[in-house]
Amino acid sequence: MRAAPLLLLLPLGLAAARLPVVPHQDPAAAQDPDLLPDTMLELESALKKLRRSIRKEEEDAASLASLQRIQEAALRCKTLVPALAADLPEAERPAFLRAYRREMAAFLEKAVACEIALLDGDREKARALQKALADMETPAHERFTADG
Ligand code: HEM
Repeated sequence: MRAAPLLLLLPLGLAAARLPVVPHQDPAAAQDPDLLPDTMLELESALKKLRRSIRKEEEDAASLASLQRIQEAALRCKTLVPALAADLPEAERPAFLRAYRREMAAFLEKAVACEIALLDGDREKARALQKALADMETPAHERFTADG
């Protein structure tokens, strides 16, 4: 009788042990080739607006709106498949997709931290996080795009 609750937890433990599965990112599934580039362009446009507005407290509402757009774009990008995945040997694809998703999740985490700093009135921290977000672009593109 006492073992029953533990047995119920067993499938959860087994699921966690199968770590390499990355749900949603399916390199074999059809993906509109414009979707990731277009979402990146949306992210870029919102990030540019944020760079200007974040300096001014009176533009906090605009900064929060841009952060919302950045987060939504990052959330969408996170589960998409970069075009470069198709050029890689099949054996290398899972690790590539995992690393891409991890980087995008780290980007999203910083965008949320930037929002929290702004809502807390910690403008210095919000500004540092906005810079950290912008600094992620070049190294991420070197790793995950064909033309760097
Ligand atoms: C400051 C942040 C970023 C900006 C402003 C940005 C912007 C862009 C832009 C403008 C493009 C090209 C769109 C076009 O084709 O015209 C692009 C492509 C791409 N970016 Fe970003 N990006 C950022 C961060 C990231 C991060 C963090 C990652 C990876 C985790 C990433 C991965 C990619 C990939 C893989 C592509 C190629 C699209 C494809 O494979 O279809 N980017 N990005």
